[in-house]
Amino acid sequence: MSTPAEQTFFEAIGGRATIELIVEVFYQGVATDDVLKDMYPEEDLGPAADRLSKFLEQYWGGSTEYSQHRGHPRLRMRHDPYVVDADARDRWLKHFRAGLDAARLEPELDAEFWAYVTRAAEFMINAHG
Ligand code: HEM
Repeated sequence: MSTPAEQTFFEAIGGRATIELIVEVFYQGVATDDVLKDMYPEEDLGPAADRLSKFLEQYWGGSTEYSQHRGHPRLRMRHDPYVVDADARDRWLKHFRAGLDAARLEPELDAEFWAYVTRAAEFMINAHG
């Protein structure tokens, strides 16, 4: 039996089901977003949702399937093909916020997750306009 102190953040938030819920709600928002929708190369957002879920799971201490399939994340480089400006960041974060809200995490866990994605989204900016 693991005690809370030994839990990964991934386990503490409820594991894969929680990440998948967050990402599902996030992509529902993306699908209706005039700016973001056109950036995603595939018509079907399912594969992109799977990549984001696996990445987040790995980041927070779950399985390493993401890197087994995709290699080192190199996220900033992988976003090079897309124009990520302040508007895109704000839109991305708005949809992610909706995903986190749907997951109803404990306030400290929510705050930690949100702090990470807001920092990561800032780091992804590669265009100013
Ligand atoms: C700031 C605004 C952002 C925009 C506009 C954006 C947009 C995109 C787009 C268009 C893709 C390609 C879809 C795909 O084929 O998977 C993508 C991929 C991805 N994004 Fe973002 N993204 C943003 C921020 C972030 C952040 C903050 C994270 C992580 C916390 C993230 C994680 C990922 C991952 C893991 C992939 C798949 C990488 C791969 O393995 O190919 N993105 N993003």
